[in-house]
Amino acid sequence: MPDIVFPKLKLKNKLLLPIVQGGMGVGVSAHSLAGNVAKLGAVGTISSVDLRRHHADLTRQTEKSRDKAAINSANLIALDREIKAAKEIAAGKGMIAVNVMRAVAEYSAYVRQSCESGADAIVVGAGLPMDLPELTADYPDVALLPILSDVRGIALILKKWMRRNRLPDAIVIENPQYAAGHLGAAGLDSVNDPHFAFSIVLEGTRQLFKDLGIEPEKIPLIVAGGIHNPQQVSELFGLGASAVQLGTAFAVSEEGDAHINFKHVLAAARPEDIVTFMSCAGLPARAVKTQWLVNYLGKEAKLQGKAGPKDCTVGFDCLHQCGLRDGIAKAGQFCIDTQLGFALKGDVERGLFFRGSEPLPFGNAIRPVRELIDYLLKGVNPMLAVAS
Ligand SMILES: Cc1cc2nc3c(=O)[nH]c(=O)nc-3n(C[C@H](O)[C@H](O)[C@H](O)COP(=O)(O)O)c2cc1C
Ligand code: SF4
Repeated sequence: MPDIVFPKLKLKNKLLLPIVQGGMGVGVSAHSLAGNVAKLGAVGTISSVDLRRHHADLTRQTEKSRDKAAINSANLIALDREIKAAKEIAAGKGMIAVNVMRAVAEYSAYVRQSCESGADAIVVGAGLPMDLPELTADYPDVALLPILSDVRGIALILKKWMRRNRLPDAIVIENPQYAAGHLGAAGLDSVNDPHFAFSIVLEGTRQLFKDLGIEPEKIPLIVAGGIHNPQQVSELFGLGASAVQLGTAFAVSEEGDAHINFKHVLAAARPEDIVTFMSCAGLPARAVKTQWLVNYLGKEAKLQGKAGPKDCTVGFDCLHQCGLRDGIAKAGQFCIDTQLGFALKGDVERGLFFRGSEPLPFGNAIRPVRELIDYLLKGVNPMLAVAS
């Protein structure tokens, strides 16, 4: 690979390494991962959802509770603690972002808390964050980054935000063909649609900027999904990307906030172990076919056949719309918060382990984030150094 020096990513007034660690819930990217990525000068992202699971006192107070207000309040306290702890690790370097999913019931509260607690950026996926400029109007220095998958979604956000006199500070373009977790496609049959290809979305977005009179350098484009080697990074910069976002590779890093079993499940998965299916949030999702998922998929059709409205199984009501609680037959019929919670704690039998489709940079090895960033930007592969 030629010795390329990648241009820095400019977000607000910060110049950053052009690497973004994607937000990963539940608890997979908390203060340790985000703080250590930011400390190296890149963008570290905390996932805001259900962070109380990382705090023994808050877990004790709420794990048996069905009091939604108490659970929400514990989660906001946990979010505040995580942001402050990440900023302490980062020591002013890089950027600490918070990922909030639009599909989550407490979306607005998480956005507001993130701003109040000192997040440098808010990144919103799993739905269109039409109202993000209004929600953050009192915090003009907080960068706003929507996650979108195609030109149509980008056009909707740009037109709506421009009416509020606001532009995104960057856009994350996530390709559902490769990414982990919830995917930005309408259904399972459209996940591999060619219109999601990075080349098409980057080109289409450039044209859209021209049509809307937006100078292209005003909104850096960050691509996400399946990126795992420096050659890809180089090619994507050649296509006009300003940075790359990775999820799975950071989830398995030494600094990742999940249990070591979680990292091993992701790192050891072979291509045939990875599957797409419908989440209870009503979006397609990609994960490792572990025991629980195999069992669930075996009875999915039966569960969908008898779907009907019921109380939230844990009283948390985490989603605006939940296939299980609201009896939406075409959506998943399981409690995602419970299954992701098991995965975070390393329960291999019962957990749901989100993972992207592509190989990992260091195979099944768990390595520090510094090595991952060095490999992506400079092509330095520590695994080869170990072998020689
Ligand atoms: C375990 C896991 C959990 C994730 N959770 C979220 C999430 O809560 N919100 C979100 O916007 N993206 C989530 N993602 C997606 C990542 O932020 C990232 O965009 C994606 O994984 C990129 O694809 P890659 O894994 O192939 O690098 C998750 C990914 C993983 C691996
Ligand atoms: S049942 Fe649905 S709304 Fe309730 S916690 Fe589980 S995923 Fe969230």
